[in-house]
Amino acid sequence: MLPRRVRNLATMVKRRAFWTASVLLGLAFISFLYVIGPPVLRSLSGLQGFDLFYVGMTPKPTQQPLHPCARANITLVSAFFDIGDHRKGGVTRHISEYLPFSQSLAFIKTPLVFYTDSEVFADHVTKLRSRLDPKLTHVIRVKRDSLWPFNLRAPIGQLYAQPGYPKHAPNTVVPDYSCAQHAKYACILDLILKRHDIIKTEVYAWLDFGYFRDLKDKQHYCMVLPQNFTEEKVSFNQVYLPNFKQAPKTIFYSNHVWVGGGMFLATRDTMVKFCIEYQRATEYLLFARNLSSTDQQTLYASFTEEGRRDINFDVELQVDPGSHGWFKLGFSCLHRMGNGTFPNLR
Ligand SMILES: *[C@@H]1O[C@H](CO)[C@@H](O)[C@H](O)[C@H]1NC(C)=O
Ligand SMILES: *[C@@H]1O[C@H](CO)[C@@H](O)[C@H](O)[C@H]1NC(C)=O
Ligand SMILES: *[C@@H]1O[C@H](CO)[C@@H](O)[C@H](O)[C@H]1NC(C)=O
Ligand SMILES: *[C@@H]1O[C@H](CO)[C@@H](O)[C@H](O)[C@H]1NC(C)=O
Repeated sequence: MLPRRVRNLATMVKRRAFWTASVLLGLAFISFLYVIGPPVLRSLSGLQGFDLFYVGMTPKPTQQPLHPCARANITLVSAFFDIGDHRKGGVTRHISEYLPFSQSLAFIKTPLVFYTDSEVFADHVTKLRSRLDPKLTHVIRVKRDSLWPFNLRAPIGQLYAQPGYPKHAPNTVVPDYSCAQHAKYACILDLILKRHDIIKTEVYAWLDFGYFRDLKDKQHYCMVLPQNFTEEKVSFNQVYLPNFKQAPKTIFYSNHVWVGGGMFLATRDTMVKFCIEYQRATEYLLFARNLSSTDQQTLYASFTEEGRRDINFDVELQVDPGSHGWFKLGFSCLHRMGNGTFPNLR
């Protein structure tokens, strides 16, 4: 016979072991139910739901709402064409100065298709996005002359050389600069119509290469639809309130702006129509009216009373009331990831 104290101790050890084992078994059972079991059993059974194992659990995987980023289903399109140094806002910009403007593209987890004729920029964007899923980045090397705007370089150059044509550098001074602005619409059209095997989404957004230069917080973002997005219209940012009574010539000669060209978005079909209309408007203004500058003047002039009569764009623009600076639309589409709220959804 063991002394009673030793027997008591043995009982206590046994009890502890029993409770410890019970707790461990319990934990194992719970983790099987909630974590390991469902996927294993689902894959074994081939069933999608497996209700028994989701007792008390919400939501079931099949009912999980799509992540807002997937639901927005947007492709960003951007481009950079190496047209050499040019004057902007009174200073001469070297192309390498544009590189740092794009750092935030490394943090935007929305698919990006980037068109360029520059090896430096192609490599830059590839490196910038190298930490993201490779499916999210497509760099397309193009020859400038394969895009319609660069074929207008000579007539635009002749117009800018005419005495009396206003000098708003670079808009009405550097023909290639005007062509590069028009090229936005050519690149988007090229992607949607000719390269849909690369990517196909419901919505396409143009984004200037340096648009998010002020986004410096190094958080991950994606793009979602802005609040007043409409399927039949192209959303733009209203930078200045318009005066549609002005003549197109005044808008070009005085360098007026209504909507910003830095970012705009539309559904696929609307965007196709819009880009085709844009080319028609550009060529009409250049050849029939001797007017050329950037897309900002082209769009403003097209929607004046005179422009509606003579050009009659087949697609309307969507702008929010009020004037919004240059970047409001784009920033309103940024959705910070890993944050449980779902803002800006339709
Ligand atoms: C996104 O749009 C494409 C083309 O319309 C479609 O095939 C795809 O299923 C959509 N994806 C989502 C997550 O809705
Ligand atoms: C445009 O410029 C050309 C060449 O200078 C000129 O012949 C033509 O009359 C101009 N057209 C208009 C509408 O100003
Ligand atoms: C959306 O449009 C409505 C009606 O024009 C306007 O009142 C509202 O301010 C717009 N939303 C934003 C975010 O501007
Ligand atoms: C999500 O982000 C918004 C805007 O940045 C912020 O106001 C909100 O508190 C965030 N919510 C969570 C759950 O972090």
